[in-house]
Amino acid sequence: MAKTLLICGGAGFIGSNFIRWLLANSDVSVVNYDALTYAGNLENLSDLESDPRYTFVHGDIRDAAALNKTVGEQDFDGIINFAAETHVDRSISGPAIFVDTNVSGTLALLECARAHGIRRFLQISTDEVYGTLGRDGTFTEHSQLRPNSPYAASKTSADLMVRAYHHTYGMDTVITRCSNNYGPRQFPEKLIPLMILNALDDEPLPVYGDGENVRDWIHVDDHCSAVWAVYCNANAGEVYNIGADGEQANMDVVRAILQILGKSERLIRFVADRPGHDFRYSVDASALRSNLGWQPRHSFEAGLRSTIEWYRANADWCAHVRSGAYREYYRQHYKL
Ligand code: NAD
Ligand code: TYD
Repeated sequence: MAKTLLICGGAGFIGSNFIRWLLANSDVSVVNYDALTYAGNLENLSDLESDPRYTFVHGDIRDAAALNKTVGEQDFDGIINFAAETHVDRSISGPAIFVDTNVSGTLALLECARAHGIRRFLQISTDEVYGTLGRDGTFTEHSQLRPNSPYAASKTSADLMVRAYHHTYGMDTVITRCSNNYGPRQFPEKLIPLMILNALDDEPLPVYGDGENVRDWIHVDDHCSAVWAVYCNANAGEVYNIGADGEQANMDVVRAILQILGKSERLIRFVADRPGHDFRYSVDASALRSNLGWQPRHSFEAGLRSTIEWYRANADWCAHVRSGAYREYYRQHYKL
């Protein structure tokens, strides 16, 4: 019989892309458990609503009773946890919710998985747990955990709790640590969609500091295929880095977006730097490639073009997510 998975945080950017990818590339069924915070958007999955393999449950990962009810209702093969507070800038202005959701929420989910004898628990983590790099070097799975932002510290704490559940209770857990994602349906508080939407509206593009910080970009579909490779084939207790050798300085990303859209670089505004801004991320994903045979399919250049096309073709989605409370937050935050 085909498996059923509990996907937590499936209404967000990566989770919704993962559910779409999974339904297209496997015969599993999915229950999407999501609290629908500002970042959760059911429009991300509206085309799947009539798919019999897809069900949505509105719930919070911190709510043990609701989790136990959902997990007790059917026979889940595993849990994949995307649910989190994810934006570094928000973690700087308000860290408490990051501990609540990312640490206590993950703990509640682990406890539920343990109580119900769930076969496998996959925690979606981030390369930001390793801290920052100078001009040289790369993060391997053996790099020290040195988180710098409250967001990264909360994700690291969750990883340690997942590790502890494997060692203490013998639970089958795996962790993936991916680099920066881009692609369709990313909430426009993160660099790439923010810059695309601002450029389309001829609004200023806020670049932190001198724009020389480096991020290692991966198309969200490549992240999805990697998560599935790890879910299906990793050994219990393993950690896998995920990355696609996509290092770019922020200024190069911003310039590329403006160039593709045919917009002027006069839209760029250098603004105050982010406190504690990590200089560079670079992920060594050679273990994933050699042990599990995974390979990325998208070059950064082609992936950025297709992403820009998606935002252009989905003006309703963009208008919706940029309206109301989010827009006010963004105006105040960047003082534009
Ligand atoms: P996102 O902010 O777009 O979505 C987060 C989702 O989690 C939303 O649907 C939200 O409603 C849900 N959520 C938040 N709190 C919840 C709670 N208490 N209970 C249930 N659901 C809750 O995030 P994203 O960018 O899709 O990231 C998904 C995961 O991937 C996160 O764990 C993040 O740390 C990790 N990650 C992200 C990136 C990236 O570049 N975006 C890179 C590496 C790892
Ligand atoms: P972001 O998308 O927030 O991801 P993360 O901080 O988790 O890597 O930011 C990516 C890079 O872009 C980071 O170096 C900060 C920078 N940045 C800007 O310069 N301006 C912006 O408005 C944002 C949101 C980010």
